[in-house]
Amino acid sequence: MTATRPLHILVLNGANLNLLGKREPEIYGYQTLYDIEQDLTNIAKKHSTNITFYQSNSESALIDKIHHHGLLTGIDEEKIDAVIINPAGFTHTSVVLRDALLAINKPFVEVHLSNVHSREPFRHHSYFSDKAEAVICGLGAMGYTSALNYLLQKFAK
Ligand code: DQA
Repeated sequence: MTATRPLHILVLNGANLNLLGKREPEIYGYQTLYDIEQDLTNIAKKHSTNITFYQSNSESALIDKIHHHGLLTGIDEEKIDAVIINPAGFTHTSVVLRDALLAINKPFVEVHLSNVHSREPFRHHSYFSDKAEAVICGLGAMGYTSALNYLLQKFAK
């Protein structure tokens, strides 16, 4: 963050999270992604913080978004300070998404709605957790608000 612009957080959501509310609600809850984004927007507004949301089912689109906001843009308002990411299924598969986050060298918080450790063994490994500043799983939608509140406190210091 520079003295001349407000804090800016990028919130990324991976594959199938556009279906939140309809998709396996007993696991992922009944809130839609829009509901979650509204909650985050309200918190960000109270702290005069900019927040950008992006969801994609495509790994490459997510990577392009990270590159753009993290490193490539020349526009000050588009530059970000930190990322909240739920990589969804890419959590367990994606070296390239991990590499994109490392390339921009910004702190990121990894969020999962469900407790991935209480689920199938293939969900226990994450390509992100060892590099994440924090990992939140199993809190449902509250995981996103907790991540945002954490980052707001971190950058307020
Ligand atoms: C998820 C957990 C992943 O294992 C799964 O593939 C998802 C969502 C979660 O938020 O709990 O799509 O990231």
